[in-house]
Amino acid sequence: MENLPNSSWILSKKKRLAYQIAILSWYDQNKRELPWRVNPTLYKTVISEFMLQQTRVTTALPYFENWMIEFPDFFSLSQASEKKILKAWEGLGYYSRARNLHLLSKIAVQWEAPPLTLDDWKNLPGVGPYIAAAVTSIALGQKQAVCDGNVVRVLTRLFAISESFKDGSTAQKKIRPVAQALISSERPGDYNQAIMELGATICHRSSPLCSICPVLTHCKAGKSGEWTNYPALTPKPKKTATLQRYWIEGDNHILLHASQKKRLAGVFELPEKIPNFIENSSITPNKPLTVRKRTIGNTEYTEEIFRVEIFTIKEETLPSGYAWMKWSEMKSFTLSGPHRKWINEIKKSQKE
Ligand code: ADE
Repeated sequence: MENLPNSSWILSKKKRLAYQIAILSWYDQNKRELPWRVNPTLYKTVISEFMLQQTRVTTALPYFENWMIEFPDFFSLSQASEKKILKAWEGLGYYSRARNLHLLSKIAVQWEAPPLTLDDWKNLPGVGPYIAAAVTSIALGQKQAVCDGNVVRVLTRLFAISESFKDGSTAQKKIRPVAQALISSERPGDYNQAIMELGATICHRSSPLCSICPVLTHCKAGKSGEWTNYPALTPKPKKTATLQRYWIEGDNHILLHASQKKRLAGVFELPEKIPNFIENSSITPNKPLTVRKRTIGNTEYTEEIFRVEIFTIKEETLPSGYAWMKWSEMKSFTLSGPHRKWINEIKKSQKE
């Protein structure tokens, strides 16, 4: 890495210790009371870190509480149906996380003792470098530094690392050795949580609260006031795409399709095409029922929803992936978050 952080800082044991003491004492006094921090267990850590990998703490909280009631341990999770698990995950997005947790629970019930090393954890379903480091440090006391977006922000500011990264995951890979050089040997799990907590509650992306930061005296960017420069990420061009969706409503039900995309597999949405078993269909071109937008990754999707006004059904057996959802079953179906909202809104507007 060009422009390595000032190595005297990292290599000076005295400075490192002063920094660790500052951040850990701050954490001890200011940490949020989160349910996975109360009587922590390996299971609670695994579930919370899977949820938190791509989701904010405030969004994940009610899901975590509900999950612990429905699936209180690896055993109950391993016995549950995938449908029930996906339902409990509905709205959190990135549904492969739920499916991987299911697979992981089936492995975990066979353990005599859980694996301790980072590499063993990385071989488990859905476990990448972030979750492996979080779980082994927080639940198993291993000295493994996490490096998520929050950690990258804190560390690039502490050392004024101006290298421009092509994306977040490249930045995380490159900054991890710095994180590893700073982690506390005595309290690795707390240290990891402390630096993530600092990133989430003090070292904000914009308007960081430098004046109350416990490590301001160690922070180059905080002292110079130039925190906006860090981390330097090469801006990515935003992409746009337009999709058609179809509202195919029968007497008391509507046609849905479970996306085949890995990210959404098993989660129902309005179909993107009028399937072949729907015949003699007619829509009013250029006159969608509604047009909605959502952003996934770097792409902003415009979804035009057309009502299929007239149609006949050729076959009774549905091709795989399709389902008629009765309106009374809507609660029990697993729908993507945006589509549940849109379907409810369209349904409501029809009644008005
Ligand atoms: N973000 C992800 N995991 C976290 C944790 N355990 N504490 C604080 N922030 C987090």
